[in-house]
Amino acid sequence: MSNQPIKLLQITDCHLGDNVDDLLLSMNPDESLRDVLNLINRQHPENDFAILTGDLVNCPSPLAYQRLYNIFAQRLSCPFAWLPGNHDSPSTMAEFGDVVNRKLHTLGNWLIIMLDTHVDGLVSGHLVQKELEFLEQSLLDNKDKYIIVCLHHHPVPIGSDWIDRQALKNTQCFWKVLDKFSHTRIVLWGHIHQQFEMHHNDKMLLATPSTCIQFMPNKKTFALENLMPGYRWFELHSDGSFTTGVERVEYKNYGTDLNSSGY
Ligand SMILES: [Fe+2]
Repeated sequence: MSNQPIKLLQITDCHLGDNVDDLLLSMNPDESLRDVLNLINRQHPENDFAILTGDLVNCPSPLAYQRLYNIFAQRLSCPFAWLPGNHDSPSTMAEFGDVVNRKLHTLGNWLIIMLDTHVDGLVSGHLVQKELEFLEQSLLDNKDKYIIVCLHHHPVPIGSDWIDRQALKNTQCFWKVLDKFSHTRIVLWGHIHQQFEMHHNDKMLLATPSTCIQFMPNKKTFALENLMPGYRWFELHSDGSFTTGVERVEYKNYGTDLNSSGY
């Protein structure tokens, strides 16, 4: 096997509309996604795989997913997979075949496990029993791999009351399964529209800026931050070590309504 690290991207919370000129809090998610993909093609042009961790569209319609799929298929030079967030529709996403229906992805000595925390009609997340069993069985069957677990909702509080109320609800069940094993290296999510890094036992817990609006950390109520959209990159080594970082587009005035009290 090659000693070259595996190159992985995380792109999250694109909130794409049905139309190319749809706005989200006065920001155009098409424009900011295009800027993020341009940045990726400059900073990290060669990748083995990309993970899209939910809220891919703002209001789920086949049209929005088709637009999103076309953008990634045309602009990314690597295979990609996506999982649903609270803004998504798993049944509409399922029409895109392997991109969403395949939940295990092997990359050399590493295995990516994609989880579904979506609950119809709720902003918060939940892992149903079947999903917890899938997680446990996947961990059990792949003890020779280093594991990356991906989901949309955050499985730990991040210090902002309003979004911590919209977290994964059955976190105890999640950690009970994960903590039975020692080969998970990374737990990775979207939803919180900000960079986040924390250690949990021997695991790294990571979240990543949205490709559109950014939430201000450590706030009791909803607040936007004037930070630029971005993505996360990884270099995964065959011995289980890895490096990671976040890149953001250069400052630009997207016209975002920074005083908004929600969306
Ligand atoms: Fe989101």
